[in-house]
Order: sequence, then C-alpha cells, then structure tokens
Amino acid sequence: KKPAGAPDKSLARQVNKVGVVGAGLMAGQLALLFLRRLQVPVVLTDIDQERIDKGVAYVHGEIDKLAGKGRITGDEVNKLKSLVSGSLDKQAFADADFILEAVFEKMSIKQQVFGELERYVSPEAILATNTSSLSVSEMASTLEHPERVVGFHFFNPVAVLPLLEVVRGTSTDDASLATAFSVGKQLKKSCVLVSDAPAFVVNRLLTRFLGEVIASVDEGTPFEVADRALNPLGLPMSPMVLLELVGPAIAQHVNETMHAAYPQRFGLSENLQRFVEAGKTGVWRTDDQGNQVLDPEVAEL
Ligand code: 3HC
Repeated sequence: KKPAGAPDKSLARQVNKVGVVGAGLMAGQLALLFLRRLQVPVVLTDIDQERIDKGVAYVHGEIDKLAGKGRITGDEVNKLKSLVSGSLDKQAFADADFILEAVFEKMSIKQQVFGELERYVSPEAILATNTSSLSVSEMASTLEHPERVVGFHFFNPVAVLPLLEVVRGTSTDDASLATAFSVGKQLKKSCVLVSDAPAFVVNRLLTRFLGEVIASVDEGTPFEVADRALNPLGLPMSPMVLLELVGPAIAQHVNETMHAAYPQRFGLSENLQRFVEAGKTGVWRTDDQGNQVLDPEVAEL
C-alpha cells in the first residue's frame, strides 16, 4: 500500500550507488543497512582518513557478526565487503545517485556538506539528511538544486527499528520524494511522510517524554524512581537507558531545537546538560546525601 502522501512510485529513479557522509556510529549503521538491502556500492566519507577507516572497519566488523549469526553466507560476506569503500575525495561520490548525510547536527555544517557535494554529483542525485530535528527546507535553501533534498530520518538501532520518517522540504520535488520512498521500501522500512516541522513527529514526542522524566528529576524525584516509574507501561527500554542509546548530546540538540521553536512548551534542563557533559559512561543514581550523581560503575549499553 502506498504510504499516505507519497508520490506515484513510477516517478522513482533507480539507485545504483550510495554515498554516506559521516563515518560515525550512526553513519556506519546506515552504510551497513544500504549495503545489505540494496547490494550496490556504498562509499563513506568523513573529515579525515582515520575516521573513514574506522567507519569502514565498523561495517566490515558488522558484516562478520552477521555471518557469525548465520544471517549471511561466506560469499555474501565477500560481496558486501567488496561493495563498501571509503574516500576522502568527494570525486568518489560523482556517480552516486543517493547520498545520505549523518554529520554533526549543525545547520551550517550540513549546508556546507551538501553545497560541496553539489559540485561533484549529478543534478538529479538525491541529497538525503538523517537530521534528528533541523529544517530540511532551510538545509536545501542554499543549494543550486534544492528540489533533490529530502529528510530521511532513521531510529536507533537502525538495523532493528522499522520506522523511517521521510520529510518533504518546501522545494522537494515529486521525483526525489518518490525515489526516497522507493529506497526506504528497499531498505524494508515502514516509511511515513512527515511535515518539515521542528523534530518532525517522533522526536518531538520523545523530547516531551524524556524531558518530563528529566524534569521530574530536576524537581527532586530520585533518578531511579523516575526511571522506573514507567516500567508498568511495558516500554522496551526505561527512559534513561533510551537516553543513553539516543546519545545525550543528540537528545539535548533536539531539545534545544524544540525550545527555540516552542519556548513555552519545551524547557531546558541543567541535569540534561550534566548528562551530556558526562558523556555515555554512566547513569545517574541517588547518593547517600540524596544528590543525583553519575554512576560510572553502571555498565554501558
Ligand atoms: N545497537 C545495535 N543493535 C542492537 C542494539 C544496539 N544498541 N541493541 C539491540 N540490538 C539488536 C540485537 O543485536 C538484536 O539483533 P539480532 O536479532 O540480529 O540478534 C536485536 O537488536 C534485538 O535485541 P534484543 O534481543 O537484545 O532485544 P530487545 O528486546 O532487548 O530489544 C531494542 C532491543 C530493539 C533496542 C529495544 O530495547 C527497543 O526497541 N528500544 C527502544 C529503542 C528506541 O526507541 N529507539 C528510538 C530512539 S530515537 C532515535 O533514534 C531518533 C534520533 O533522531 C534521536
């Protein structure tokens, strides 16, 4: 069944090569998904060779893990590994028809990345962004061909969560959107068309949900109580474990976007800031004096 609002699939263009900009954990997960599902060459890039090598090594490692679980055969291992490459030179993206960026969540950086890519790729190549909350229309606004920019927002862990938010910017044309839906389907994701509103749909709900849990901690509820209060709802993860999975810095970025757009409805939290500063190495607990402290002993996810 055609997703609501999706253009006719006959408009979709064929994708024969994929580019992924960014070689961090999210980008690595995305590269792996494209490789497995589309079985076309996937090229990764980042700001230096070390990051690129790490990204490619991550993908190779995940391919080996899939083989270890019996999900793919030895022949597939070799095929998938031969399809993934890394390059510092954007020329390697010249023949890519679908490029997904998963770089730092800053508008000017994303505009710069797409602006630079435009010099190499064909005018029809799709430029997709995995942004969590930034405006797709604004990202496209500085480009020569803004009509090929789409939001393509995945959820962590990428291999497991079925949802994919597809975002139409003000300039996005039907052929680009149809191609995005076609690729999403090939990736076996459940695609939904969402409007280009701050944080789209899922993250604005998540910000509200996690934000209220943190607000209750800010107001004095012990961390453990707030974190466990939702257990009876049968959620797959408790709120703070989910926050760790999302990454506190990303969560804070989404929160800031929502606060800027709707200051009355979305507050900022010092505790969230403390969590970001502490990184991903522990979760909070209540110490003997009743203070909320970070517990580095708690195992990482
Ligand atoms: N990374 C990669 N894969 C993971 C993972 C992780 N952190 N955690 C679990 N998995 C994989 C496992 O390897 C396993 O794969 P397999 O079937 O190939 O062996 C599969 O997930 C299931 O794992 P489990 O058996 O451990 O299953 P659980 O029942 O514990 O489920 C979960 C794990 C799917 C992560 C579940 O806890 C869940 O759905 N949590 C909520 C996640 C969520 O809400 N994510 C959205 C975050 S918002 C976001 O990403 C948007 C961004 O913009 C902020």
